[in-house]
Amino acid sequence: MYVVNSPLSDADRKTVSEALQGALVDLVDLALVAKQIHWNVVGPRFRTVHLQLDEVVDIARTHSDTVAERAAALGVPPDGRAATVAVGSGIGVTPEGWVDDETAVQALVDALGAVVARMRERIAATGEADPVSQDNLIAITADLEKHHWMFQAENG
Ligand SMILES: [Fe+2]
Repeated sequence: MYVVNSPLSDADRKTVSEALQGALVDLVDLALVAKQIHWNVVGPRFRTVHLQLDEVVDIARTHSDTVAERAAALGVPPDGRAATVAVGSGIGVTPEGWVDDETAVQALVDALGAVVARMRERIAATGEADPVSQDNLIAITADLEKHHWMFQAENG
């Protein structure tokens, strides 16, 4: 059932919807992971890491909304349910309990690195099918890579 008409062919819509849905689950999980560590980080760098993590939460939430609404605009219902995110996220296991600041930063380096790698695959996959969605993914990836750099610099 297509409630919203899509400007794309069936084949292109399938390609793009997989990329946008994948981006959605990664970004929802990134926001959850960043909040988890925001709450649990301890150590001498608590304040800076704690605040930096909320910057990641903010961009992850903003960008998850962008890709979800882009999918909807293409006639594809976005799926941001917790169970879907748990199965589909590309982010590995997040440390449980208190996390020292160096480990916290490394967890974000790893999480952002995993998401960026998958986002670059999505950029490559969507160029022909829908350059408008690709443009969204490129802008999001630039933002993620900026934060990836900053967390790497934290532990440099
Ligand atoms: Fe907070």
